[in-house]
Amino acid sequence: MSTHAPTLRTYYRQRKANQWHKIPAEAGDPGAIRPFLAGNWKMNMIPRSGVALAARIFDLCRDIRDVEIGFAPPYTGLSALADYIKPDFLRQEYGLGRNVFLLAQDTFFESKGAFTGEISSEMLASIGVDRVIIGHSDRRTNLGKYFGFGSSVARRLTREFLLQEVELLRVREDVDPTVLAAIEHLTAEARQDILKGLARFMEAELRERAGESDEAIQKKIQACLTHGLQIILCCGENREARQTHETFKLLDRQIRMGMEAVSPRIAGDVIIAYEPVWAVGEGAQPAKIEQISEVHGFMRNLIMDLYGEQVAATLRILYGGNVKPDNIADIMNIPDVDGALVGGASLKACDFARIIRFGLGQAGTGA
Ligand code: PGA
Repeated sequence: MSTHAPTLRTYYRQRKANQWHKIPAEAGDPGAIRPFLAGNWKMNMIPRSGVALAARIFDLCRDIRDVEIGFAPPYTGLSALADYIKPDFLRQEYGLGRNVFLLAQDTFFESKGAFTGEISSEMLASIGVDRVIIGHSDRRTNLGKYFGFGSSVARRLTREFLLQEVELLRVREDVDPTVLAAIEHLTAEARQDILKGLARFMEAELRERAGESDEAIQKKIQACLTHGLQIILCCGENREARQTHETFKLLDRQIRMGMEAVSPRIAGDVIIAYEPVWAVGEGAQPAKIEQISEVHGFMRNLIMDLYGEQVAATLRILYGGNVKPDNIADIMNIPDVDGALVGGASLKACDFARIIRFGLGQAGTGA
């Protein structure tokens, strides 16, 4: 496939001979699928810089109405951007339509209470957020690294601590006998080395893997839907899963668990982002076109199994992981790809504007 191959802007999707195809639609056709190009700013941009970045991008993308554009600033940048991207203003100033969306990078599933530092989906909806990224790999897998959950577990895996615990557990009636037996076994004098080894293993495991569970992600989706927010459900395998051929099994679980919270009536509004963890971030290589194509096809067929052909034809599946101006056209030419979730390149106005234009235009000219 060539980078300069023509790429459809708006389209319908049809299934023929067991394969999905994009069928061109008229510009402005309200029933057609519009690709969605979303910038995930992660922990970058103070509010003022975020508004300036968005303004530069709009300037380079004047009159583009057939592509949806999304910005996901950090929580602190949401209000300022919400004030700036009002549809009337965007139409008058930049000739844009209702195709600009404000995204949050995460939310918490409880509606209120003693959850210091968390933000509820009701709070996001109240300041004009349209869509919420849920289950990004930074949150599914990296929290153990940031917060050191492993060390707090390891600290408890000592003979002294467990001896105290076992005394407490013995007098309780609701204790799982397997747990009690295991702790008694581990606290035996002869098991000290095993305990030390186990503590080190748990610490390393949790540092590597602790993060948001599929259950937490499902609850977050539920909370967002309750408040009328659209979902961008991120999923993707890490390098280890790909190497051990577990990719499809893992994606199957991530999607089934996430979508369990979604009724057939609104399933078509969900956006799924396939972000292979090994392809995300600086220094990584994007997935190959064949790999993206294979996974997106698998996901679309899974959605068809869960919700039927109509939903599968309309639900948008984005790719994320080192999307750049020079690879977006090839990625958008894949029949099952409906857009991209862009990290690093979304922080540079020229790059993101060219991505919105599917790689066309010269950097900095807006052409
Ligand atoms: P990247 O990030 O484009 O910098 O690889 C993508 C993402 O994390 O959403």
